[in-house]
Amino acid sequence: MKILLATQKPFAAAAVSGIREIVETAGHTLEIFKEYESQSELVAAVGDADAMIVRSDKVTAEVIAAAPRLKIVVRAGAGYDNIDLQAASERGVVVMNTPGQNANAVAELAIGLMIYMSRTQFTPATGSEIQGRTIGIQAFGNVGRLVGAKASALGMKVKAIDPFLDPARIAEGGAEPVEDLAALYSGCDFVSIHIPATPQTARSIGYELISKMPKGAVLVNTARKEVIDEEGLMKALEERPDLKYAADVAPDNYDQLRSRFGLRVFATPKKMGAQTSEANVNAGLAAARQIVDYFATGNNRFQVNR
Ligand code: 3PG
Repeated sequence: MKILLATQKPFAAAAVSGIREIVETAGHTLEIFKEYESQSELVAAVGDADAMIVRSDKVTAEVIAAAPRLKIVVRAGAGYDNIDLQAASERGVVVMNTPGQNANAVAELAIGLMIYMSRTQFTPATGSEIQGRTIGIQAFGNVGRLVGAKASALGMKVKAIDPFLDPARIAEGGAEPVEDLAALYSGCDFVSIHIPATPQTARSIGYELISKMPKGAVLVNTARKEVIDEEGLMKALEERPDLKYAADVAPDNYDQLRSRFGLRVFATPKKMGAQTSEANVNAGLAAARQIVDYFATGNNRFQVNR
């Protein structure tokens, strides 16, 4: 089978060689299609692929239609909002992710952004410490739990909420469960967002929640830009000169936010949360193993479009 590794963002060399070894040892071939610039290049590259490994690359209906042999797509990472699941399912293409494999990298970045904003983006302005402050974690999955553990080790009080976990499970994970989002946002100096982008979560965090945050609070988004209501964010930052926003995913109105609010806002130029060698290796090798195993045994444990 021909497995196409299609990653627009650079993937660590160690990840690529590890993927190659897994694929070729199982008798398959690996083709690498990396750092491409346009979606049409991706469409042109998938023609004879039986399987694909991608990151945030957009696997649209057009990509799937251009790949008549395609049987499986594995997103080397957690969020699969970049894949048209309906188009894949209609064609019988299995879609999987590799949950947890890049979670530590994202969690480290979330903590880094908290410190960066508390120290006024490393300018000489007097900053503040995170020890003794309260962090609220919105969604206590693989990334959220790691953020909680790291924050706790740094002397922070940790609260969390997750629509899929009952309070006892959150407490077992080392965080104090809160009853609703209003309590999370109003009771935490930092809120770290770890929800997926879905039709239900789109623009779900806006003025109402953000303006509830206590004085000097920082909102950190290492999830997806789509979960933020950008006009609501702008309004909250306008009304509350003490609030700050940091994101691994620049909002569409970032230039406007930056010119109005300066060092109170920050966004990475590209989504960098999982951009470590370790995360690339963990997620990339897991993706390769999942494809090899699927072709050998039909194992579809991580399928997300059942
Ligand atoms: C994920 O959903 O796994 C992260 O957002 C990482 O995305 P990336 O692989 O595009 O860096």
